[in-house]
Amino acid sequence: MEFRTEKKRSERMKRNDNGILLRTDQLTKSFGGLTAVCRLNLRVHRGEISCLIGPNGAGKTTVFNVVTGIYRPDGGDVLFNGESISGKKPHQIVSKGIARTFQNIRLFSNMTCLENIMAGQHCRASAGVWSSVFGTSRQKEEEKRIRDVAESRLRLVGLWKFKDEPAKNIAYGSQRMLEIARALATQPKLLVLDEPSSGLNDRETEDLIDFLKSVLKEDLTIFIIEHDMKVVMEISDWVTVMDEGRKIAEGTPEEIYNNPVVIEAYLGKEEFSEEEGSYDGPAPC
Ligand SMILES: Nc1ncnc2c1ncn2[C@@H]1O[C@H](COP(=O)(O)OP(=O)(O)O)[C@@H](O)[C@H]1O
Ligand SMILES: [Mg+2]
Repeated sequence: MEFRTEKKRSERMKRNDNGILLRTDQLTKSFGGLTAVCRLNLRVHRGEISCLIGPNGAGKTTVFNVVTGIYRPDGGDVLFNGESISGKKPHQIVSKGIARTFQNIRLFSNMTCLENIMAGQHCRASAGVWSSVFGTSRQKEEEKRIRDVAESRLRLVGLWKFKDEPAKNIAYGSQRMLEIARALATQPKLLVLDEPSSGLNDRETEDLIDFLKSVLKEDLTIFIIEHDMKVVMEISDWVTVMDEGRKIAEGTPEEIYNNPVVIEAYLGKEEFSEEEGSYDGPAPC
């Protein structure tokens, strides 16, 4: 097993709260009687790749949906750059610098790859309604800027050759990369990826890992939900583990890999579902 963090451990010892880009404080989200996320305190440090892991139904996607404004939390807070963003609309959160991809790919399948990336940038467009009605020079400049950014992102993910191809015609792995390119085109500070390796073959997964490591610059932070333990261990600086809506562990990949509580959460769930055949969800929050 290859671990990413050993060399950075000394840096981590020096980390303090100023290095936190995203945090949740006592974050809670329920659906009817089911508490999907329960008093969750989570930290994502600037410039790092943080992974959120846990068995199916642990509440991981719900955390992402609250952070990106799809759901309003029932309790607690989400702080981005020290500012509360909980309850803000998805487009407001994109303008603050958080961009995401989805567990199930969401692309405009009949639009070309380039158009898909251009369509993702409207939160950054500043020309108003009148300039688009009259086709003013300001709007033309804006369009050119949007196209330039889209082209550069398409090159960055290695999909330039598919520029004019409808998104539905490219391979699944390429569609995942296109979705990442679209998120990156909004010039985020935080890139949030929900199971980006799901459905990818080994080769595509390796390419994804290399890409994410290469794109990680000082002004970009990555927060990722990942089910493939090999990817988690290879890519993460920091891992947070959830089970039944709660944080059950956090630490470096090595610490998590060897943590009996984490192993139990994964193995226990499998045994449980085989023997009992049903699962009532988390205990009350
Ligand atoms: N929109 C929703 N309505 C009702 N229940 C939901 C909704 N979204 C998630 N849940 C429930 O919340 C729990 C956590 O789901 P989710 O966050 O998708 O888990 P994970 O991503 O860790 O697999 C599950 O029991 C799921 O069925
Ligand atoms: Mg999920």
